[in-house]
Amino acid sequence: MRIISPSLLSADFTRLGEQIRLVEDAGATRLHLDVMDGHFVPNITFGPLIVEAVRRLATIRLDTHLMIEKPHRYLKQFVEAGSDTVIVHAEASEDLHRDLAAIRELGEMMRTTNKIPCLALRPYLADFDYLLIMSVFPGFGGQAFIEGTLENMRQAVAARKDHGYLIAVDGGVNTGTIERVFATGIDIAVVGSNLLKAPDIPQRFRELRG
Ligand code: DX5
Ligand code: ZN
Repeated sequence: MRIISPSLLSADFTRLGEQIRLVEDAGATRLHLDVMDGHFVPNITFGPLIVEAVRRLATIRLDTHLMIEKPHRYLKQFVEAGSDTVIVHAEASEDLHRDLAAIRELGEMMRTTNKIPCLALRPYLADFDYLLIMSVFPGFGGQAFIEGTLENMRQAVAARKDHGYLIAVDGGVNTGTIERVFATGIDIAVVGSNLLKAPDIPQRFRELRG
């Protein structure tokens, strides 16, 4: 079955517990948490304090997507806050091998963006547990899906071969684009606005899962 990872960026934060319960009851197995620092991306969201609160509200996995500069400074804090997966941007890291090793040591991890060709990530494949492909420019929910990133997905699936990591896609995934996204062979679709702003969230979750 397709894995849909709801992105809390589009949740109603006054009803966070209720909305988390809705997607958990609908069958979600992992939540996606977008952390933005106002430097790496032109937007600010939340930090470990909120991740820690979500940890107490949710029973499923938490995938924390760090859109922050020099992510190594905060890896431990986000793991201690309850993240099961910590995702860093290759281009935000000063030393990707070091940061991936640190995340491995702390727990799980990792990712890319559409600015970096998949080939450039080949030296790191063995260090990945989770590869996130951006299908919008990071920073905001509700953006249009960039069709050209379907090729990144195909390349990432082809490059994976014997490596065991999961491949996820983030940005602009909705009922109109999801078929093309899963057709590339990726494992997880992160969905924010199309799911959490839907009039009937459980019903939309089932539609997306197919
Ligand atoms: C964008 C974030 C996404 C975002 C996706 O920078 O990484 O996770 O929440 O939102 P939608 O699904 O609305 O594009
Ligand atoms: Zn994200």
